[in-house]
Amino acid sequence: MPEFDTELLAPDEGGLARAAAIWRAGGLVALPTETVYGLAADARQGRAVARIFAAKERPRFNPLIVHLPDAAAARQLADWPRDAARLADAFWPGPLTLVLPLRPGHGLSPLVTADLPTVALRVPAHDVARAALHAFGGPLAAPSANPSGRISPTTAAHVLSGLGGRIEAVIDGGPCPVGVESTIVSLAGDPALLRPGGVPAEAVEAALGRPLAPPEAAAPDRPGAPGQLASHYAPRAAVRLDATERRAGEVLLGFGAIAGDLTLSASGDLAEAAANLFGHLHALDARGQPIAVAPVPKTGLGQAINDRLRRAAAPRP
Ligand code: TXA
Ligand code: MG
Repeated sequence: MPEFDTELLAPDEGGLARAAAIWRAGGLVALPTETVYGLAADARQGRAVARIFAAKERPRFNPLIVHLPDAAAARQLADWPRDAARLADAFWPGPLTLVLPLRPGHGLSPLVTADLPTVALRVPAHDVARAALHAFGGPLAAPSANPSGRISPTTAAHVLSGLGGRIEAVIDGGPCPVGVESTIVSLAGDPALLRPGGVPAEAVEAALGRPLAPPEAAAPDRPGAPGQLASHYAPRAAVRLDATERRAGEVLLGFGAIAGDLTLSASGDLAEAAANLFGHLHALDARGQPIAVAPVPKTGLGQAINDRLRRAAAPRP
C-alpha cells in the first residue's frame, strides 16, 4: 500500500516553500534538473538520506550526488584542486559532477558518500532546481528519481509512475532539457571520466588541457559511477541495439535516416536525441513489445546516449 499521497507542487514560490519545509522535516521531494528529475533529501540528515535508498530500493554502496547552489558551497565540502576550479568555471552551473576528496567537518551524512573519502558535487543549471536550493538553503542529496535500475525520469509523470506513493512530493518543472544525467569526472586522482553525460568528454578535456583517464584509472578502492552496474536504465522489454530495421513483433526507436515508431532525432541532432532518449524509452516500454534501437553516433553527447542504451540492453540480474 502506498504510504504517501504524493503531492504535485507547482514550480512557484508557494511550491518551493512547501518543498523546503518537507526537506527540513526529513522528507523526500523530487525536483527537475536540466538532466533528469532528482529525488532529493537534506544531505545532512541521515534518516532522510536513508529514505532515498529505501524509496528507490537502491544498494547502500552506491553513493549519491550532492547538489549545491554554487562553487563557493562546493569548496566548503571538498578539497579544491586547480582542475576543480577550471572545470567549475567552465561548466557550472551545468550537467557536470565533480568527485573530490571530502574536507573534515563537511557535515554530510556518511550514507551520502557510502563512507567513501570522496564526495560527488554538482551545481545544476535548471532554474527550478536553483530556486529550490536557495529556498532550502542547504545541500540536497539527489540521485535520479526512478526505482533503482529502471529508466531515468525526465518528466514529473515519469517520477509519479515510478515512485508515486513512496515520496512526499514532486515539483513539476516540465520536461528536462538535456535528458541524460550529468557527466561525472573524478579529480581525486588523475582526472578520470566515471560516467559520460550531458557535458561531452571532449569539452571537459579541452577545458583541462589534457585527456581524461578511463574509469579504471580512478583510485581502485572507489566504486565507479552508477553505471558500473552493467544492467541499468532497463525497460521491462528486451532491447536490441544497432538495428537497421524492425523485426517481427518489435517496436523501433529510430535515429536520423532510420525512422522508427518513435525517433530520437530525424535530423540526426544528438542534443535532441539525448533530450528524447528516456521519454521515448518509457513510451515504447509501455507497449510491452521488444525494442529495437537504430545506431547513434558515438561522439559528443552520443557517448552518453550509447552508454545508456548499452546498459538498457544488458542482461538483467
Ligand atoms: O544528472 C545527474 O547527475 C542526476 C541529477 C538528479 O542531478 N543525478 C544522478 O544521480 O544521476 P545517480 O545517483 O543516478 O547517479 C550518481 C552516481 C552514483 O550512482 C555513483 O556511482 C556516483 O554518482 N557517485 C556518487 N558519489 C561518488 C563518489 N564519491 N565516487 C564515485 N562515484 C560517485
Ligand atoms: Mg540514476
